[in-house]
Amino acid sequence: MQKFPSKDPMQPGFWDQRFEAQFTPWDKGGVPQALRDFVAKAAQPLVTLIPGCGIGYEAAFLAQSGWDVTAIDFSPAAVASAKAAIGEWGQHVIQADFFQYQPAHTLGLIYERAFLCALPAAMRPEIVQRWAALLPAGALLAGFFYTDNSPERSLKGPPFSMSSDDLQALISPYFELLEDSAVVDSIPVFIGKERWQVWRRLASR
Ligand SMILES: C[S@@+](CC[C@H](N)C(=O)[O-])C[C@H]1O[C@@H](n2cnc3c(N)ncnc32)[C@H](O)[C@@H]1O
Repeated sequence: MQKFPSKDPMQPGFWDQRFEAQFTPWDKGGVPQALRDFVAKAAQPLVTLIPGCGIGYEAAFLAQSGWDVTAIDFSPAAVASAKAAIGEWGQHVIQADFFQYQPAHTLGLIYERAFLCALPAAMRPEIVQRWAALLPAGALLAGFFYTDNSPERSLKGPPFSMSSDDLQALISPYFELLEDSAVVDSIPVFIGKERWQVWRRLASR
């Protein structure tokens, strides 16, 4: 196990050190099948934001599919790695902090993978409130949600886990669950502990 000086995932430097050392055990190295299926089924392209995008394979895939996509990451090293990895599609990746970023256009979709679980539990309400603030009623939040009942993993991360009941309680004040399915192509760190979910923004809050 590699050791890094920065221990605080709230700081860009934490992620910079890991991207610079190419220590990225969360990185899938490609586009998850459930996202491919979601795009294939979509009635129309959606204006999409990918918060905490890392290498941003999904940004390249969505742009190639004709979707208006912006992928953001606050780590300069993550953004540099993404631009190096995805070539011309790197123009869709920008350095920005999710909690400050203002999209240029009204969003139809936020895509989630390994961002919610990258930050400590205390940040979860803020993340969900920001998703809710960025999405108009009817817009979608779709992606991969990491759940694990281990109390140790909820405190020791990233990834920081939570139970599926806690996940439901966190998101359901703002979104209704439309889809919830097993993931067929998880990488080892998430195997058996992630669900593909699609949530729709409610009008009420
Ligand atoms: C575990 S990685 C996941 C990367 C990518 N989503 C993936 O699936 O491979 C979490 C990412 O979130 C980024 N991140 C953490 N806090 C952020 C913030 N406030 N704004 C933007 N990016 C952030 C980190 O720099 C890191 O690249």
